[in-house]
Amino acid sequence: MTKPTPIDKEIALDPKRYIVSETDEKGKITFVNDYFMEVSGYTRDELIGKAHNIVRHPDMPKVVFKLLWETISEGKNINAVVKNLAKDGRYYWIFTEFESRKDADTHEIIAYHADRKTISPHILDVIVDLYAKLLKIEQKDGVEASEKYLIEFLKEKGDDVNFVNIMEEIHRFY
Ligand SMILES: Cc1cc2nc3c(=O)[nH]c(=O)nc-3n(C[C@H](O)[C@H](O)[C@H](O)COP(=O)(O)O)c2cc1C
Repeated sequence: MTKPTPIDKEIALDPKRYIVSETDEKGKITFVNDYFMEVSGYTRDELIGKAHNIVRHPDMPKVVFKLLWETISEGKNINAVVKNLAKDGRYYWIFTEFESRKDADTHEIIAYHADRKTISPHILDVIVDLYAKLLKIEQKDGVEASEKYLIEFLKEKGDDVNFVNIMEEIHRFY
């Protein structure tokens, strides 16, 4: 039997299908679509009620999730490139649109929604290097240091560039 090459570990996604999930205001999964289950390898029962970090990949820098939560908990929407871990240890990269859902009367956040789709390879080239650098900084000096690096990285691109629009900006610059 031949040894699998590293590329075998990446799950090829169907560009026509979205991977969808919803959580409560704390990030506990309340809904997944069929494609989420198909790709992640988990059943609905294994996902509903669990924290969404069930698919967190160790290559993901903490700062991405820190900024994600800071943004969505203020009721703002955000896009982010995320590497996820499937149940069998394989991974998949996705472009994710996060949205907050508010109560119509109280305007309090009651849920979050995420739509994920495939990402173009040239964007991924930039992101893989950036995230590897952020992770390395975090492991050595902590998440404040990686956040500082990310902010500087964005500042170099222009005054109006921030984390909320980073993914669009990366599309624009590369
Ligand atoms: C709607 C929604 C979808 C999310 N989807 C993912 C996801 O696909 N992958 C992931 O690693 N984290 C996702 N998260 C973030 C997780 O809640 C969590 O913050 C992250 O996995 C980091 O784990 P940690 O907070 O335990 O460090 C999502 C959060 C929300 C609110």
